[in-house]
Amino acid sequence: MSDHARSDGETATAERRATDAATLNWTGGSVELPLVPGVEGDTGLDIGKLRSESGFITYDPGYGNTGACTSAITYLDGESGILRYRGYPIEQLAEHSSFLEVAYLLIWGDLPTRAQLDAFHNEVTHHTLIREEMRSFFDSFPTDAHPMAVLAAGTVGMSTFYPDSQNISDPAAVEVTINRLIAKLPTLAAWSFKKAIGQPYVYPRNDLGYAANLLHMMFAVPSEDYEVDRQVAEALDLLLILHADHEQNCSTSTVRMVGSAHTNLYASISAGISALWGPLHGGANEAVINTLERIVADGGDIQKWVDKAKDPNDAFRLAGFGHRVYKNFDPRATIIKGAAERVLAATGADDQLFEVAQRLEDVALNDEYFISRKLYPNVDFYSGLIYRAIGFPKTMFTNCFAIGRLPGWIAQWREMLGAEETKIGRPRQVYVGEPARDYVTIDQRADG
Ligand code: ACO
Repeated sequence: MSDHARSDGETATAERRATDAATLNWTGGSVELPLVPGVEGDTGLDIGKLRSESGFITYDPGYGNTGACTSAITYLDGESGILRYRGYPIEQLAEHSSFLEVAYLLIWGDLPTRAQLDAFHNEVTHHTLIREEMRSFFDSFPTDAHPMAVLAAGTVGMSTFYPDSQNISDPAAVEVTINRLIAKLPTLAAWSFKKAIGQPYVYPRNDLGYAANLLHMMFAVPSEDYEVDRQVAEALDLLLILHADHEQNCSTSTVRMVGSAHTNLYASISAGISALWGPLHGGANEAVINTLERIVADGGDIQKWVDKAKDPNDAFRLAGFGHRVYKNFDPRATIIKGAAERVLAATGADDQLFEVAQRLEDVALNDEYFISRKLYPNVDFYSGLIYRAIGFPKTMFTNCFAIGRLPGWIAQWREMLGAEETKIGRPRQVYVGEPARDYVTIDQRADG
């Protein structure tokens, strides 16, 4: 058992105590709401006693003003475009770190020593094979199955082979589950792709780094040698780092919510993968390329598509623009744009779409509609272009995002379980349906 397995949760959240209070007044009463200060950023109002003392609940569809937890993992300031993992700025991690080091940092709370990183790397490397029985699992899906569906199903399916994952209060069992997940998700993702294109599954290679191994399993074939391009592997590693965590977004909140029922880690992560699939969330990287392709096929009239996005009577939105939290710029998008330029130069890809994306960005950023609504390119705007230049088909983009986000989901699941404040997630509602009425038998119901 490692040091992590012996330690009992790393979060500082349990120590944080309310120091002050705000008062909520309404006609006929008032209630004191303790403050929950953050180290930086938002201060929470603890409404835990609001309903019992006032009869009110809060109403916040989309949770735009709701802090569901305290967390010591990721800090995000959307107004200033700041993103830090465990205190370290994303720009520094992108420049100096590696995905596995970032995964260790997120999950275990601090940058590893050389020995710790080597041990982690060794563990992950030696868990990359998936159970041979799972080959038939891939075979049973239709060839045009979306890889995100296969990935979500395969992830929860792994819990059938590793029943020790049910034991969420055993730190050693949790640690081996974490290592297995990080090791095997690329294998599941790559095999879902191989199945879709009718090629033989390629087994992992333990002499390759994490991103290089994913590229090998995706693009190698048994009939010839495949050499991983170092620059491409570095670009993919960078993308994984940039996606590794983003505090309480839709998929992470899903992982926490499912995990709050003491559901095992495979099932919780599978739920997160499903949430990520949506085009308003991680699926936006695929939607961006679809949009750029439509613009090109339509003659390249950028203004026409920007106008379409602005039209309140048209459901079309510019995928890759806007963010619930970033209202200035998304620091990940800035880094990714630079990486896209490098990858396109390295792969020699003649990417008309990159040029269209840049023109689209220029037009949108100077348009009053986008300026007034603070809509900027987000992480997904340029990431799809890198995946595309590397050779990933569009349907694999969100799988790559899921591999990157995995350490964040794991860290958040683990923090949630270890926190004193955690209860099963169960929001309330404001009921707006029919008042009580009596059952009417079918022959007495009026038609129409
Ligand atoms: N194109 C056109 N208009 C937009 C866009 C867009 N991409 N995004 C937001 N708007 C408009 C909305 O119509 C709304 O206008 P209104 O005030 O006139 O009604 C206003 O901007 C505010 O938008 P909301 O939808 O209220 O903002 P919200 O915070 O709920 O949504 C979201 C954020 C989902 C990211 C949204 O901006 C969007 O749909 N973007 C496109 C999809 C996308 O890129 N998703 C990836 C996000 S990053 C990630 O999840 C990894």
